[in-house]
Amino acid sequence: MPEQNSSRRSFLKSSSLAAAAVALNGSVSLAQSTQADAYIDILPAEPIGTISDEIYGHFIEHLGGVIYDGVWVGEGSKIANVNGVRKSFIDMMRDVQAPVLRWPGGCFADSYDWHDGIGPRNKRPARTAFWKQQDNNQYGLHEFMHTCKAIGAKPYLAANLRTEPARDFYQEIEYCNAPAGDVPSNSAAPAAPNALAAQRAANGDTAPFDVDLWGVGNESWGCGGNMTPEEYAAEFRRYTAWTPDYGKPLRFVAVGPNGDDIDWTTRLFKALYGNPERRHLWGLSIHYYTSGSPTKFADGDALKFNDDEYYDLLTRGGLMDKVITDTWTAVTNASPNSLANGRSAGFGVKLVVDEWGAWYGKGTELAPEYNLSQQSTMRDALLTGITLDIFHHHADKVGAAAVAQSINCIHSLMLAQGDKTCLTPTFHVFKMYAPHRGGQAVRTAFTAPTIPNPMGTVPAQVGGNSYIGQVPPVKTLAGLSGSASIKGKTLTLTVVNPHLTRPATTEVAVRGASVTAAKGTVLAEKDVHAHNDFANPNAVKPSAVSGLTPSGGKLVHTFPPASVTTLEITLA
Ligand code: AHR
Repeated sequence: MPEQNSSRRSFLKSSSLAAAAVALNGSVSLAQSTQADAYIDILPAEPIGTISDEIYGHFIEHLGGVIYDGVWVGEGSKIANVNGVRKSFIDMMRDVQAPVLRWPGGCFADSYDWHDGIGPRNKRPARTAFWKQQDNNQYGLHEFMHTCKAIGAKPYLAANLRTEPARDFYQEIEYCNAPAGDVPSNSAAPAAPNALAAQRAANGDTAPFDVDLWGVGNESWGCGGNMTPEEYAAEFRRYTAWTPDYGKPLRFVAVGPNGDDIDWTTRLFKALYGNPERRHLWGLSIHYYTSGSPTKFADGDALKFNDDEYYDLLTRGGLMDKVITDTWTAVTNASPNSLANGRSAGFGVKLVVDEWGAWYGKGTELAPEYNLSQQSTMRDALLTGITLDIFHHHADKVGAAAVAQSINCIHSLMLAQGDKTCLTPTFHVFKMYAPHRGGQAVRTAFTAPTIPNPMGTVPAQVGGNSYIGQVPPVKTLAGLSGSASIKGKTLTLTVVNPHLTRPATTEVAVRGASVTAAKGTVLAEKDVHAHNDFANPNAVKPSAVSGLTPSGGKLVHTFPPASVTTLEITLA
């Protein structure tokens, strides 16, 4: 509704908040009556889309201490386990209601032979794997499926496109999904049991795994084969030209850009849509990590950072919004008719942000062999909130996502080493944001003084797993940001106040509705370096918000510095 936005803009110019920035969605606040530092206007009449459960997805890869020790401790372990899977990992994932779990990589996937991980464990081969580790294949397809079942998550398999032929891809689907017993034949041949289903049953699982979500390769522009978009489009078509579906449609996810690499997306979609066959293309992946350093990928320190670095990281984390918007625009421009037709017919392409998080350099890993493990502070909790809120703003585009990675890795929810475990601040944010899931995301207007990014003087580097391009310097960070969603009479509002010292007394108004009650949870620490570790596993934890008393149909609440808040608001 452009007119409304522009009238709100005129209001802002003349208001006492003239210096304030429009934090989100290009809209600004309604006229205000209270003495507030900031305003949040929620616009239920401007729906964005339903927030897919799968936006809250997870990722585990054979890498460092993610699978071995993190997820898999083995059936004979003294560590509490469920059929060899660390029980506390299952509990944690159940606690955040992990909807989907991606495996086995990452870069690992494109050199992984799924046959190595099935059959009796004592007969499985040990192999040198992508991250230079020796993998004994004790954790394979069945163990992964049991993990998903124990958690209640859907499996999302990343298939090997670089080193296995298309036959192995469709046979992996067959192994996972072929029904047990006689399979009716669409020919004169009599019904017969499927050989791969029989092998699956012999390996312990008679019932099919029913995997519908498949990544067709991983980072094919890099570790997945160093392909051009045109080469990858041809491979995608070849691998998906025929696959068995047993009457249940499959969802294939094509390899998308390295961060904001619009050239990849444009050329890929031109090449894909240049051919009428795009079987089951359901999603396009996006990988966007926020490095701890503005100039070097996977650098900076997870624990030691100054105020400028803190603001800079959160500012660059906000580039997720640009990456999503630019990718979507590139898809739309490269294939306007097909995409528009597909979307109206309900099978259009969704974005799948299946790797995201803050990625720091070495220094805080659990031990040298826990490659890429890192600590996680309140700074990462705020980045989590900012990222999930961005996904909600694009609920019409983002169909799924996966944080990289759930345990002992880049942006983890849990750290585990032997019998020691702790949950990170990011875990708490995932839990706090759960009420949004399945809600209708609605547009919001956040008005608060912006925060200058002291390091926003040089172009920002934007890459998925490396720095490949630049965008103009990002000079400011929203003083307050967040998102809102509605389920019936309950509105969920999540808010990030990134300012290190400034509380934000904020008037929250819902256009066309009255706030009658509210409850909330907040994660806030005086020191943004605060984190949990094995010695102090509960140093950072959320608490209930007190004093939420609506007045005149609105709510005034002070969001503490460096905080993430969830408010559940009852509307009349
Ligand atoms: O998550 C770690 C690695 O980052 C993944 O293996 C790869 O896909 C990405 O580059």
